[in-house]
Amino acid sequence: MKATVITYGCQMNEYDTHLVESQLVSLGLDLVDTIDAADFVLVNTCAVRGKPVDKVRSLLGDLRRQKHERGLVVGMMGCLAQLEEGQQIARKFEVDVLLGPGSLLDIGAALESNQRFWGLQFKDELHEHIPPAPQGKLQAHLTIMRGCDHHCTYCIVPTTRGPQVSRTPASILKELDGLLAAGVQEVTLLGQNVNAYGFDQGAKIAGIPSFADLLRGVGRSGIRRIKFTTSHPMNFTEDVAIAMSETPAVCEFVHLPVQSGSNRVLRRMAREYTREKYLSHIADIKKHLPGVVLATDIIVGFPGETEEDFQHTLDLYDEVGYDSAYMFIYSARPGTPSYQHFTDLPREIKTERLQRLIVKQKEWSQKKNASKVGSIQEVLLRGNAHAEGFLEGHSRGNHPVVVPKALGADTAGVYPVRIGHATPHMLYGAVLGSNGEALPELPRLTPEAAAVSSPLSMV
Ligand code: SAH
Ligand code: SF4
Ligand code: F3S
Repeated sequence: MKATVITYGCQMNEYDTHLVESQLVSLGLDLVDTIDAADFVLVNTCAVRGKPVDKVRSLLGDLRRQKHERGLVVGMMGCLAQLEEGQQIARKFEVDVLLGPGSLLDIGAALESNQRFWGLQFKDELHEHIPPAPQGKLQAHLTIMRGCDHHCTYCIVPTTRGPQVSRTPASILKELDGLLAAGVQEVTLLGQNVNAYGFDQGAKIAGIPSFADLLRGVGRSGIRRIKFTTSHPMNFTEDVAIAMSETPAVCEFVHLPVQSGSNRVLRRMAREYTREKYLSHIADIKKHLPGVVLATDIIVGFPGETEEDFQHTLDLYDEVGYDSAYMFIYSARPGTPSYQHFTDLPREIKTERLQRLIVKQKEWSQKKNASKVGSIQEVLLRGNAHAEGFLEGHSRGNHPVVVPKALGADTAGVYPVRIGHATPHMLYGAVLGSNGEALPELPRLTPEAAAVSSPLSMV
């Protein structure tokens, strides 16, 4: 049987896709790259906003047709699968296999069963499960915890992924050893709220280090670069910034989602911090990590957000000076408290505010990125860029970087790159030779090619 997994959503879903793909291989299935070549298509779903749900719905519509035409077997996994909304969609589109985020290891049982199989339990065996290292990749994800104990009023994730469960350091380090042996150079530690690592359901777990100490431990493993996401400001401690500054492998990049700059909105979101507390974390980060690259998530148009509240978000952006931001229009998700209790703002107000925030973000990203022109960045080049003749990758500060091929590098690897040109979304440079020779004339990407690689496509 030939299988393919189609992934929507965040890096945790990418990690889970890898986990399930490795299960499929050990069950004897061949992985293929396209739906057309597959007999079994598994869709890894996201439910965080309405848009990813709509995408899944339309893909499953297509797959149902192929099920009738050529006997395709269709599966659905991930966050949407855990929700009643997702199960209704699965029934409508005649999905054969449905696995919630806690039941991924049931994939074997699901394929053996000759009737519809739905797995919706959060099973303990998943927490310490170590998938084989991805082969031939320089970057890997490593999930250090699953679930979330927060109750942000807009968010469906605690429902889809259940309460927080931290993995033991022993199993994290064992997985890391496998990644190192496979040649991985950059690992991203994943959790909905990595700063709460080791504090499940509010209680400190005996024998589990703090996130800051875990960073120090991972830093001693010999891995070249460490990133992590996501940090919830409520659980952020100055010790994390100190551990970052003391651990050379930890990249100078912090993604600290603020969601809103207005205390009134933060309270209604139940984010459990104030603007002032958030800014004090930013001050700690800047103190210990001069030159840190800062990213955030912002929701615009939360129910009840006034023009004045939104202005507070715009000022906070200026006060912090973010390098980049993921900006989302509030999406009312059935099953969340804000869906139940608050009235959604009109679409026009939300999109107009998003446009203004994007202008602000572009100004800051342009300014921050322009300040990198002339600097040398350590860039992990993953492989070919969308534009022919270029390689793409990321700096330690997580900037997307593009370099022309064959000027010092024609394959993936970690290289020193001198930056010659910057846009709000991208740094362009050239790999330095071992003698650090001058920057050659850089071929330019067309604006269309550059737009394809823009991280703003997340909006
Ligand atoms: N655990 C992470 C966030 C995971 S969800 C954290 O708390 O930082 C990723 C982002 O999606 C959130 O930071 C938020 O900005 C956005 N998001 C979540 N629910 C949303 C909703 N209902 N509408 C719009 N954006 C949402
Ligand atoms: Fe959602 Fe809040 Fe948990 Fe993040 S911390 S996953 S936004 S509930
Ligand atoms: Fe990630 Fe989407 Fe689930 S953002 S945690 S895949 S709802």
